[in-house]
Amino acid sequence: MTLARYVDFAVRGDDLGWLVALEADRNVPFPIKRVYYIFGTREGIRRGKHAHRRLTQMMVCLTGQCKVLLDDGNTREDVVLTRNDHGLMLDPMLWHEMYDFSPDCVLLVLADNYYDEADYIRDYRTFKAACA
Ligand code: TYD
Repeated sequence: MTLARYVDFAVRGDDLGWLVALEADRNVPFPIKRVYYIFGTREGIRRGKHAHRRLTQMMVCLTGQCKVLLDDGNTREDVVLTRNDHGLMLDPMLWHEMYDFSPDCVLLVLADNYYDEADYIRDYRTFKAACA
């Protein structure tokens, strides 16, 4: 079983170029309440390093590439994000770390709720205990 669950997006191409539309409760499988993006990440930086208790998110690599470590408390898996035609689901209680960002990497993240620090589990031992 893989921890990496992707949602494929339809890519519309014409003489103008390419376009992807993301719609809440359609190709994005939740109501979108927040959108943020991560860019300009310096070499050697690891971001994330947390899980969320209730938040569901989807991550799309718009340009460049990065790697993501996924950990559900039992299994760990590293994936490479290079494509803007699919989204990686980050379900609740999935520990994630993003690393090996290319200098041009832009990561778009869609979330089903507003920013709430109380929803974060930032301590790995607390995460493991919560999974048990
Ligand atoms: P954080 O979620 O810790 O980033 P990452 O997991 O990618 O390393 O957020 C970094 C900072 O930005 C932290 O101070 C909280 C703030 N922040 C917001 O204010 N709103 C948001 O929607 C997010 C995701 C972060």
